[in-house]
Amino acid sequence: MIRVLIAEDDRNTLTGLVEILRQEGFEVVGAESGEEALQVLAYRQFDILLTDLRMPDMGGMELYEKAKIQAPQMKTIIMTAFNSVKDAVEAMKGGVYEYLTKPLDLDELFIILKKAVADFELERENEELKHRLQGVYRFENIIGTSKVMQDVFHAIIKVAKSDSTILVRGESGTGKELVARAIHYNSPRMKNSLIEVSCASFPESLLESELFGYEKGAFTGAAGRKVGRFELADNGTIFLDEIGEISGNVQTKLLRVLQEREITRLGGTSAINVNTRVIAATNRNLEEALDDGRFREDLYYRLNVIPITLPPLRDRKEDIPLLLDHFIRKYAKSNNRGPLTIHEDVLNICLEYHWPGNVRELENAMENAIVLGDGDKVLPEHLPVFIKMRKSDAAGDMGMILNAGASFREKLDFAEKLILEDAIRNANGNKSEAAKNLDISVRNMRYKISKYNL
Ligand SMILES: Nc1ncnc2c1ncn2[C@@H]1O[C@H](COP(=O)(O)OP(=O)(O)OP(=O)(O)O)[C@@H](O)[C@H]1O
Ligand SMILES: [Mg+2]
Repeated sequence: MIRVLIAEDDRNTLTGLVEILRQEGFEVVGAESGEEALQVLAYRQFDILLTDLRMPDMGGMELYEKAKIQAPQMKTIIMTAFNSVKDAVEAMKGGVYEYLTKPLDLDELFIILKKAVADFELERENEELKHRLQGVYRFENIIGTSKVMQDVFHAIIKVAKSDSTILVRGESGTGKELVARAIHYNSPRMKNSLIEVSCASFPESLLESELFGYEKGAFTGAAGRKVGRFELADNGTIFLDEIGEISGNVQTKLLRVLQEREITRLGGTSAINVNTRVIAATNRNLEEALDDGRFREDLYYRLNVIPITLPPLRDRKEDIPLLLDHFIRKYAKSNNRGPLTIHEDVLNICLEYHWPGNVRELENAMENAIVLGDGDKVLPEHLPVFIKMRKSDAAGDMGMILNAGASFREKLDFAEKLILEDAIRNANGNKSEAAKNLDISVRNMRYKISKYNL
C-alpha cells in the first residue's frame, strides 16, 4: 500500500484530503504543521509527502529539505496558491516531485499520485534488478561474471515480461537452453507450460504433426486426434530448439503461426487460436542459410525480433574460474566426494584451452575428473586428454580434423603428432626422455620426429 503523509495547516482541507485519499486506497496520515509532519516521519516511512507551501511555523520547502534527509526516496508534492506558482517551479528545480495549485483539482491530484505510484514501481523494479545483478554472478543456474553474460542476464529479465519472440543464438554448449528456460520461468507465463521441441530430432513429416497436431484420419495411421505442441503450450512458451534445421514446409507453417497466432491441425479444417510465446534457438549461421535459400527470409525476421547471443566460452574466459568452481561443487556433491579444491595447473590449462564444446565441454570435463579422481584436489591428470594437451590451437585442429573429410590414416597421424608434441613438451624438450615416457624406442622417436617435422 502506498503511504501518504499530508502536511496542511488548514484543518478542513486536511481532513478532507485525508478522507478522500483513504477512500482511494492510500494509507494516509495527516499533520497540521511542518513540525508535526517531521515528528511523524521520524518513526514512520512514507512514499509520498503532500504538503502545503505556505504554513505558519515551517513552510513546505523547509519541510521538504528536512524530510529529504530522513526519507530520501519519498516523493514530495507541493500544494500552492495560484499566485505563487513561480515558487512552485523553483521548488521543482530543487527536487520536489510535482506541484498542485489551490484550490485543488482532485482529478489533477489523482493523476499526479498515479504517476508517482507508477514511478515507484519502476524504481522498485530497477532496485530489484540492480540487487539481483550486483555482484551476483549467477542468474538462476546460469553463471557468468563477464560483461557479456551480465548483459545477457539483463536481457533475460527485460524480455521475460514481454510476449516477443526471442531467438537465442550461440555455439553448441553455450547455454541456449538454460536461457530459454530462464526467460520462461521469469515471465508471467511461468505457471503455464514450457514445451521444448528439438526440431532436428524429428523427421520432417513427424515434426509437422508434433508441432501442429492432427485430426483422426489425416493420414494413414492417424487413428485418433493428436494435439500439437503449439496447442499444449497455449498461454505458455514453446521452445523451438535447432530452428535452423526445419524444412521449408514447416517454415511456412511456422511463419503463419507467428503472423496469425493460429494453427490448423493436419487434416483439420478450422483454425485454432493459440497464445503461445515462441523462443527459438540455433547454433547455425542463419544468415548463411538465408543466402543459400534454405531459410525463409520473412520467417527469419519474425523470429529475430529480439536476438540474444551467447558468446563462445573462449571469448569470455573470465567466466571460467567460477564455472569450474560451480561444476566441481555440483559433481563433488553428486559423487559423495568431500569439498574439493582445484590444482592451479588445472585452472591454467582450462584458461588456455579453447573449449570448442563451450560450457558443456567444461562441465563434462569436471564431471569426468571428479568421477575418475580421488583425494581432495582436482589434478591435471584427471582432465581429458584433449584439454590436457594445453596447446589450444592443436586441439582445435584435432576437432576440425575429426569433423573434416580426412581419412582414417590422416586422423591417426594427426593424433599421433599431437601426442608426441605433448610428450616432448612435458619432457621440457628432451626428446629421448619423451620417448622413454611414451615407452617407445629412441629410434622410433627419431623417425617420427622427422616424419612430423617436430
Ligand atoms: N553459463 C552457464 N552456467 C552454468 N551452466 C551452464 C552455462 N552455460 C551452459 N551451462 C551448462 O552447459 C550445458 C549445456 O548448456 P545448454 O544445453 O543450455 O547449451 P546449448 O547452447 O543449448 O547447446 P546445444 O546447441 O548443443 O543444444 C548444460 O548442462 C548447462 O547446464
Ligand atoms: Mg540446446
